[in-house]
Order: sequence, then C-alpha cells, then structure tokens
Amino acid sequence: MAYIFEEPSHTFDEYLLVPGYTGPDCIPANVTLQTPVVRYNKKAGEKCPLTMNIPMTSAVMQAVSDDKLAVALAKEGGISFIFGSQTIENQAAMVARVKAYKAGFVSSDTNIRPEQTLGELVEAIEKTGHSTVAVTEDGTANGKLVGIITERDFRIGHCEMSEKVSAYMTPLSSLVMGKEGITLDEANDLIWEKKVNQLPVVDKDGKLLYLVFRKDAASHEEHPLELLDSQKRYIVGAGINTRDYMDRVPALLEAGVDVMTLDSSEGFTEWQRRALQDIHSKWPNAKIGAGNVVDADGFNFLAEAGADFVKIGIGGGSICITREQKGIGRGQATATIEVAKARDAYYEKTGIYIPICSDGGIVYDHHVTLALAMGADFVMLGRYFARFDESPTNKLIVNGNYVKEYWGEGSNRARNWQRYDLGGKKGMAFEEGVDSYVPYAGSLHDNVTLTTSKIIHAMCNCGVTNIPDLQKNAKITLVSAASLREGGAHDVIVKNTVKAN
Ligand code: IMP
Repeated sequence: MAYIFEEPSHTFDEYLLVPGYTGPDCIPANVTLQTPVVRYNKKAGEKCPLTMNIPMTSAVMQAVSDDKLAVALAKEGGISFIFGSQTIENQAAMVARVKAYKAGFVSSDTNIRPEQTLGELVEAIEKTGHSTVAVTEDGTANGKLVGIITERDFRIGHCEMSEKVSAYMTPLSSLVMGKEGITLDEANDLIWEKKVNQLPVVDKDGKLLYLVFRKDAASHEEHPLELLDSQKRYIVGAGINTRDYMDRVPALLEAGVDVMTLDSSEGFTEWQRRALQDIHSKWPNAKIGAGNVVDADGFNFLAEAGADFVKIGIGGGSICITREQKGIGRGQATATIEVAKARDAYYEKTGIYIPICSDGGIVYDHHVTLALAMGADFVMLGRYFARFDESPTNKLIVNGNYVKEYWGEGSNRARNWQRYDLGGKKGMAFEEGVDSYVPYAGSLHDNVTLTTSKIIHAMCNCGVTNIPDLQKNAKITLVSAASLREGGAHDVIVKNTVKAN
C-alpha cells in the first residue's frame, strides 16, 4: 500500500511564533543574521567556507536574478543565483560583470576629446544622462586623461556651442586624482579633504581607470553588511541544470562564480546525483546546491550525493502550478520542518552540517522568520525580488498601478523545460508556471532593510540574537482558521489601510 502521511501538510500562514524571555542583551543592535551557505564539518570545529550576512537569496529566474540584482543584493549581504535558462556565454558574462563591479569605482561612460565642441558634449550628456564627463586624448573610457568637464562648467545660451571643450574643462594640472590601487576608503578621504565631487583614478601612464563619485563613496558606508570575497569582489551565485553542466560549470568558474545550484522543480533524482558526482570529481572545490526536495528521503539522498546545500519546496512558488498540473508537492512549512529534522540527524551522525534553503511561497516578511525558526538556514525568493527597481523586468502601469512583470521558469514565456526534464522523451511538454504582474515596490535596499528589521525584532521577541539559537529555541504554534482573522485589524473601521508585506 502507498505510504500515507497521517498529518496534513501546512503552509507558513498557519503558524505563529510564541515569544520567549527577552533579556537585557537581547536587543536589535546585538542581533546577527549571519548564516552558513555550504556544507562544512562543524563537529570538527571547521568554519563554514561561505556565509551570508542576511539569510536571503534571489531565485534562479529570468524575471529575478541578473547581474544588476546580484550586485544590489550582495550590497545588502545576500546572494543572487543568476538564471541558467540562457546561453552559457551570456550567463558567464553576467557573473563576470558582478565580479568586475567595483563598489564605488565607476567606469566612465561619457567621454570626449578636448578638441570636440560643447555641442557634441551636450549631445553625449543627453545620451547617457551623466553630467560628469572625462576628457581623454582619444575620447575613450580608458584613454589618457586630460581633464574633466561637468554641466556646471559652461552655460547653455551664454556659450557658443561651437567652442572647444578644452576651453571650459578643468585641466589635468588642476585636478585632484587617485593612483591605481587606491582603496575606496582612501578615495573617500581624498574627496572630503580636497572638497571635490569626483575623483578620477589613473594608472602610472595617466590613463583613466575609474571615477569615484562623492555620493557613491558614501554609499559604501551605507552597506556595512555587503558580501565580498577575499579580493573584495561581490559574491555571486548561478543556476545550473543536469544536462550541460560539464560545459556550463567551467565557464561559470572561469567567470568567478562563488556558488552554484542545480535548479530543478524536483531534485530527488538520479540526474542530480550524477551531476553532483561528476562536478565534484572534476572540480572538487566547486560549491553546488541541489534540490528541490520536500521530505527526509529527498534530503538524505542529496546529502549522500554530496550536495553543498539542499533546497526545499515543490509547488509553493507564487507563479507555480505544479500542484495543479501534476498533483506533486507539499506544504512549505511541513516540508521545511521535516527536512530540518533530517539535516540535524545527518549532522549528529556525520558531524557534517548541510545548510538548507526554504525556496518559494514566502509571502509576508514574517514567513522568513518562521522558515528560519523551523530550521531553514536561508530562504530563496522570487516574487519578493521581482517587485524591485533592480529586477530585470519592465515596469508598467496596469489599471492605474505600477507593476513589474514576473513569470515562472516553467511558463511558456521562459520555456526552461530543462528544469522539469526527467530524462528520455515521452508525451509533450506542459506548463508548470504562469506569466504574471507583481506590484512595483521600489528599491531593493529599502525593502530588504524593512524585512530584515522585522526579522531582527521578532528574534528579540523570541529571546535570541542569532539564527542557530532561533532554530534551537523558537516556540512555534499552529493557528486555527478563526485565529487568522484575529491576527489582522478586525471589527473596526480602518482609516488608513497598512498593507503587511
Ligand atoms: P516565489 O518566491 O513564491 O515567487 O517562488 C519562487 C520559486 O518558485 C523559485 O525559486 C522556484 O523554486 C520556483 N519556480 C520558479 N519558476 C517556477 C515555475 O514556473 N513553476 C513552478 N515553480 C517555479
């Protein structure tokens, strides 16, 4: 007879946290959200080789994780997994762009030669929208620097547009400059000391490398949790599949990727086992997550196969119709709780700690706290990040409201059929995801700051200041349908609706 789970499976919405004792040291300023990302021998006292400063990753999806979002999330302390449903070259190029991005060091995108006219300069400024222009001998971004000109150096209507740029620019002799190798802190100090708005950085031959702007140098200080590798480059992840990994993985490693994950709707398969084995035997240092699974059997299988972390979740994603299409899945909370128990048992047995990631189905910020309390080390979010300025999709007006587009990897729009590939060919492909809109929500920084603040405050209510203690000490209660109504504003006429996130 089939195995029947006796208990119904539950979603995050059906649980609440019960407060614990909050001591005098249990204050938001003392809370750390640092969390492990990949397996390590905890019992032997090893340190986890890759950790995040916030427990949030962005989903392996076309509508979510490109290089721009990856930089924005790394600045906050999390990791993006750049989508794999694109050519190997394009995905590797995105990874390379994240690794080449130097916080605060900007490659000049508006450049001009000294003998060009103010008219040409105005045209260039209109094209890029950037009003500080590097004047180089050959008019390229890395040419020999001869001056800087900004919109404030000439007055349209008062100057002849046929006049030369050289007559109005600040010449090299009057410029404050940084030398190659200068750190952002040093550049920032120079900007303040010399009261300039930008600092060109040049190499030993006087060729322009970067510009550092006053506003960007300050923004570095606004991101104390930014996630950097040993060479001060942003940490970035990427999604891979079980088909072309022998070509994709080396290209991603070459581009500098820090961590990868097999991206599949169902990970309890021979294909994932083989991929993990092949990749680890050829590139033993490559960090590869696997999934998704929803029970202890699935976790143990991937743990034995060498997964560096395991993703949990089938059918819970906001754009997901897998449960309707195939009847496969499990409530996300129940899946997380069971897999966390299996992870702890595996650790007791082997001494190896394998982080687990609750992927999909996070609607409210407090669902993240619940997922962590249930044992997840971090979460993966699609819809959440799709709403922000930095996501790759269009911002549109629909019915008078700003929205952003968001579609599933299993939708006809993404056509990422490899994600659902079970080997061989039989029958026809069908959709497991939808194409949708999500409400536009502004900048990633503002939203992540709010979300993490809520997590931190809830942790203090639970009497803990770090995620391992939350996992150990949280008290979690199931709620009845009736008490869900009690949880929102009720039996009053609300004046201004405060929408929870
Ligand atoms: P969300 O945060 O609830 O929007 O869920 C995002 C997660 O849904 C992703 O990380 C994937 O695990 C999963 N997912 C992405 N595309 C699809 C799809 O087309 N069908 C089913 N699940 C999907």
